[in-house]
Amino acid sequence: MLHYEPKDLPVRDLHKLLLGGVAPRPIALVSTISQDGIHNLSPFSFFNAFGANPPMIAFSPARRGRDASLKDTYNNLIASNECVVQAVTYSMVEQISLASTEYPPDVDEFAKSGLTPIDSDLVKPKRVKESPFQMECKLVEMRSYGDKGASANMAICEVLKVHIVNDIFTDGIIDPQKIDLVGRMSGDYYCRASGSSIFEIEKPNQKKGIGIGFDLIPDFMKESKVYTANNLAKFAGVEIIPGEKTVTEFINSFSLETMIDRDEGLNEFNHYQKLADYKLMMQTALELSESNYKKSKYLIELTAKCALENNDTDFAWKAALYACRLSH
Ligand SMILES: Cc1cc2nc3c(=O)[nH]c(=O)nc-3n(C[C@H](O)[C@H](O)[C@H](O)COP(=O)(O)O)c2cc1C
Repeated sequence: MLHYEPKDLPVRDLHKLLLGGVAPRPIALVSTISQDGIHNLSPFSFFNAFGANPPMIAFSPARRGRDASLKDTYNNLIASNECVVQAVTYSMVEQISLASTEYPPDVDEFAKSGLTPIDSDLVKPKRVKESPFQMECKLVEMRSYGDKGASANMAICEVLKVHIVNDIFTDGIIDPQKIDLVGRMSGDYYCRASGSSIFEIEKPNQKKGIGIGFDLIPDFMKESKVYTANNLAKFAGVEIIPGEKTVTEFINSFSLETMIDRDEGLNEFNHYQKLADYKLMMQTALELSESNYKKSKYLIELTAKCALENNDTDFAWKAALYACRLSH
């Protein structure tokens, strides 16, 4: 590993490390208005939401790295105490990049970026029509940390009103596939939160009981070469480990009349694995085990993993516990 204290590195390099390691970051597209009435629009990825009661967000219009000067967004916020913060979607990402150009304060950055200004209800800065999620905000506090290049200014804002396009919802939540947000990463990299990069993890649900925890997973499972740390953490979410009798009943529920040829059995197993059909994987692995196949334990662990990844944790536990009864 590399090890640094901030004093060990030039600010520029430290900044680059933070951009790479604290990522992907949501992007705030911030609209402000100058005292002369000029509309400003800039993206900020040192940004997040911090609470809902009252709804609070913060972002950092930092001092410019090259000369420590203050950005227009900072100056406008100090002068007016108002902004609109909007989410950035893939369809507008090139335009928000354009809006990050350092235009002088008298240039309207809506015009420069080609994004469309629409009136807000409670504040003077305009909203960006193209964004499906817009927050009208008031500045509650501006905290500054240093006066050198790249020093942070934290604009802490309360959300006064939210505007959301109504067709991005599914079952009462904003559907990540529909909103199609982008995030900022290191260098010139962005990421698009859509397609297979989006996945679900069910929250540990205390109503269903408190999970046993990683430490109570049997060692033979922790030592397996098949399960990943994510698999083991998912195993750890159950309230009770199935008992010996339950495992035996589970195994007896498979009828294993046929003797199976080894190559044919392995082909079948691979086929069911591709289909993620863990029940037929189990059936085939057990049949191979009856025929004394030497790697049956491994096949049953693969089956447990497949069941787990398809959210059948009960099946997965029983298969995993049975695997330990096999010597190979
Ligand atoms: C995606 C993206 C994220 C950015 N995030 C930040 C940030 O968090 N803080 C910052 O000071 N500048 C950030 N910048 C640079 C500002 O957008 C840029 O300095 C902008 O010109 C400031 O405009 P202003 O002077 O009109 O306020 C970012 C730029 C891009 C493209």
